[in-house]
Amino acid sequence: MISIYQPTSADALGLLNAANLPTADLTEAHFNYFWAATDGRLPVGIVGLEPFAPYGLLRSLVVSPARRNQGIGTHLVKHVETMAHQLNISELYLLTVTAQEFFEEFDFQPISRDSAPAAIRKTWEFSGLCPVSSLLMKKNLRKNK
Ligand SMILES: CC(C)(COP(=O)(O)OP(=O)(O)OC[C@H]1O[C@@H](n2cnc3c(N)ncnc32)[C@H](O)[C@@H]1OP(=O)(O)O)[C@@H](O)C(=O)NCCC(=O)NCCS
Repeated sequence: MISIYQPTSADALGLLNAANLPTADLTEAHFNYFWAATDGRLPVGIVGLEPFAPYGLLRSLVVSPARRNQGIGTHLVKHVETMAHQLNISELYLLTVTAQEFFEEFDFQPISRDSAPAAIRKTWEFSGLCPVSSLLMKKNLRKNK
């Protein structure tokens, strides 16, 4: 049984470092919008949101290698979408190198980096941490979600 909780920065950094996902820009404030999945024993996945309503950047999604393909990534994406909606975010963006098809299952669509709103372009993840070859994807969140 998977449940979601707000991780300590140590839990979050442990998961992200193990997966080699970027952490260089993360401050304590970021962790207010990070959520982790646990099986009741260990943290098994994490996702973060940078909110700039009406825009948001989904970032730092990772599931522990031993726990992949069990629906945990899906659970985390759905959770962050719900939280984004509650924060009045209507356009959710993300950058990915490896998981385009995974995100397409949730109706994220690739868009040109030039069309990103300024708030998203200003994030360190967009402007520096993620390779220029990473794909920008966008999803419009439904108003009646
Ligand atoms: C991407 C990731 C979060 C998916 O988590 P997960 O818990 O394994 O995902 P789920 O179990 O909910 O979904 C599994 C489905 O997604 C597909 N999938 C998983 N990773 C994928 C990827 N990188 N690309 C395309 N499809 C992927 C699986 O094939 C499976 O499809 P199926 O249901 O048709 O069999 C996980 O593989 C991961 O941590 N990857 C490394 C970090 C990463 O790439 N993060 C995204 C960067 S923004």
